[in-house]
Amino acid sequence: MTGKPEMMLVTGVSGHSGRLFAERLARERYSGALRCALRPSSDAGFLAKTALNYSVAIGDITDPTFLDEVMKGVDTVLHIANTRFSEKIIASAIRNKVRWAILVHTTGRYSKFKSAAEDYIRIEDGILGLRDKIAVTILRPTMIYGSSRDQNMFKLVDYLCRHKFFPIFGNGKNLMQPVLAQDLANAYFDVLSNREITMNREYNLSGKEPISYIDIVRTVSRALGRSNVMVPVPMWLSLLGARAYNAVSSKAIISVEQVLRMNEDKVFSHEAASSDFGYTPKGFEEGIRGEVEEYLQGKRSPF
Ligand SMILES: NC(=O)c1ccc[n+]([C@@H]2O[C@H](COP(=O)([O-])OP(=O)(O)OC[C@H]3O[C@@H](n4cnc5c(N)ncnc54)[C@H](OP(=O)(O)O)[C@@H]3O)[C@@H](O)[C@H]2O)c1
Repeated sequence: MTGKPEMMLVTGVSGHSGRLFAERLARERYSGALRCALRPSSDAGFLAKTALNYSVAIGDITDPTFLDEVMKGVDTVLHIANTRFSEKIIASAIRNKVRWAILVHTTGRYSKFKSAAEDYIRIEDGILGLRDKIAVTILRPTMIYGSSRDQNMFKLVDYLCRHKFFPIFGNGKNLMQPVLAQDLANAYFDVLSNREITMNREYNLSGKEPISYIDIVRTVSRALGRSNVMVPVPMWLSLLGARAYNAVSSKAIISVEQVLRMNEDKVFSHEAASSDFGYTPKGFEEGIRGEVEEYLQGKRSPF
C-alpha cells in the first residue's frame, strides 16, 4: 500500500468482507499499525494466524467514549461494520482529528422504496456535508455474496440443493449485480492504496455485469449440478405467500420487502472504481463457484 497510514482503525474486520480485507493486508505484508474495534462476541481469531501488526479494542462502537478511545492517534478509519453507526464514527473521527474516513455503505440508497432508502440517504448526505472537517470516501456495495458467511446467496444455494421446485416471484426478469465479497475486500485495499485519487470520492461497487434474478437462480442450480424447476408465481400471489411464509417461518429465506423490491432493477455502474483504482470484479457465474463448492464440501464433511 503506498502512502501508508501510520495507524488505521477498522470496524467490522470479523465480518465477511472485513476478514477477506485483513487477509489481503496480510498477503501484501502490510506493516502499518492496525487497530480493530470489535465487540465482545466477535470472532476475529484468524488475526492471530497472520503476521499483521494489529491490536484489538473490545467495546461498543455506538458508545462515544469507547469511540474516542479507539480513535486516538488514528490517521485513517475504515468503517465496515454498518451504515447506521457511521454518524457516530465520523463525529468521533472529527473530534480526534482523523484525516480520512472510508465508510462502507450500500447502493440501498438508490432504492425507489422510500422505506429502504431514506435512512441511508439521510445518514450519508449528513456526513458528506462534513467534508470540510474530514476527508470522506463512501463505498457502496450491492448485495454481497461469496461464501457461507453471506446472508443471501448461501440460503439460496441451500434451498436449491434441498428442493426440486423453486418459486419465482413475479417474472424474475429484474436485474441484479451482486458483488463477490473478495472483490469488495480488494476494493477496500485498492482504495487505501490509491488515496491521492480516492480521497473524497464515492464508488458504487457492483459485480461485473447485471444478471436477471431468474438467471441467478439458474446459474446456482447449474453450479450445484441440479435440475431445479422454476415455478413462476404472480406478484399478487407472491406477496400473499411471502406474508404467510414469514409469519410461520423463523428462517424465511425471503422477506416481504424483498418480494416487493423484486421488480426493481438493482444495476449500478462501477465505472468510477474501475477507472480510479482498477476495480475489475468477477461475473456471477465465476463468483458463485467457490460458494457452491464450499456448500457441497460442507455437506460431504462429517464435521
Ligand atoms: N450483506 C449485503 O448484501 C450488503 C449489501 C450492501 C451493503 N452491506 C454493508 O456492507 C458492509 C460489509 O458487509 P459484510 O457482509 O462484509 O459484513 P458482515 O459479514 O455482515 O459483518 C458485519 C461486521 O460488522 C460488525 N458489527 C455489526 N454490528 C456491530 C456492532 N454493534 N458493534 C461492532 N461491530 C458490529 C460485525 O461484528 P461481529 O463479528 O461481532 O458480528 C462484523 O464484523 C456492512 O456495513 C453491510 O451493512 C451489506
